[in-house]
Amino acid sequence: MRFETRALHAGQEPEPAYGAVNVPIYQTSTYAQPEVGKPKRFDYARTGNPTREALETVIASLEGGRHGLCFASGMAAEATLLLTLRPDDHVLLSNDVYGGTYRLLARVLADWGVVHDVVDMTDLSAFRAALREETRVVWVETPTNPLLKVIDIAAAAELAHGRGAHSVTKYLGGHSDLVGGALVTSDDALAERLAFLQNAVGAVPGPMDCYLALRGVKTLALRMEAHCRGARRIVEFLSQHPRVTSVHFPGIPGHPGFEVAVRQMKDFGGMVSFEVGTKGEALQVVQGTKLFFLAESLGGVESLIEMPAPMTHASVSDSPLAVPDTLIRLSVGIEHPDDLVADLQQALG
Ligand SMILES: Cc1ncc(COP(=O)(O)O)c(C=O)c1O
Repeated sequence: MRFETRALHAGQEPEPAYGAVNVPIYQTSTYAQPEVGKPKRFDYARTGNPTREALETVIASLEGGRHGLCFASGMAAEATLLLTLRPDDHVLLSNDVYGGTYRLLARVLADWGVVHDVVDMTDLSAFRAALREETRVVWVETPTNPLLKVIDIAAAAELAHGRGAHSVTKYLGGHSDLVGGALVTSDDALAERLAFLQNAVGAVPGPMDCYLALRGVKTLALRMEAHCRGARRIVEFLSQHPRVTSVHFPGIPGHPGFEVAVRQMKDFGGMVSFEVGTKGEALQVVQGTKLFFLAESLGGVESLIEMPAPMTHASVSDSPLAVPDTLIRLSVGIEHPDDLVADLQQALG
């Protein structure tokens, strides 16, 4: 089955008791057991919950992986994955990863002896040179946030085995109404270790959040089409605006990642960032929009605008991941693109 169909059907059979077509919200912390040591299917909700299991199944299916595990946030998913590491293990990060990922490694896992390096992964020879015998995780995000650099996934996978870590908070949920995370792998042994850690550490999502995420996933394909269409229209507008000094978007021919993006992406996504002349101008623009809400996060149906340097990327200001303070990031929602362009036009004016 194709992506759009799996989004609605994987893990989501009509519920057996009454035939409800939506997976119910199993709002329970525990399950009555018919006999000692013989639970029906689940025994305790940290270990498993049917609403969560449906979400884990559909996300694994969408990723083409055999095992899915869901967490209370993207960071909880990342932390649980990184707990498979031991002192002296090495993590290689691209120089444009999410600031929270860098913070987790630099300010939490470093105290436990896990080491990391940061490298420009668009430069494959630098990437290769930075790999060590102790490298256990290669952390690839593409397109990156907020500079929209494109990393060649096939080339990266050739250099290292892939593992998937996602924030469900963003496009998967898609309605800015939950925080969640997921890990997907087809490696049985790793899946077993991760399921152990998921239960042992306990950073699991509640059934209501799993239900909201399941509901969001059903329209993921449709929403992505609208996000991508809106972003392309906005990029067209920004590229010709006299106050805009540069536009970062992988769908622009001439963008350093354009060719790789055409090869590995179906479309170019809903994230756009751009620069204006000064920090003062950037402040005016982000505080001057009416439809674009000034807010962190991304991937929801409503459009958001922010300044990464003092907002989402403040925690990396003194690190190799620092971004310019003239940079503005847009998460393009599914409003009509002409209305979004008009809003940016008045804010830039
Ligand atoms: C690329 C990336 N990874 C991970 C995260 C963390 O996800 P969460 O906020 O769900 O913990 C974010 C959140 O902004 C992100 O943008």
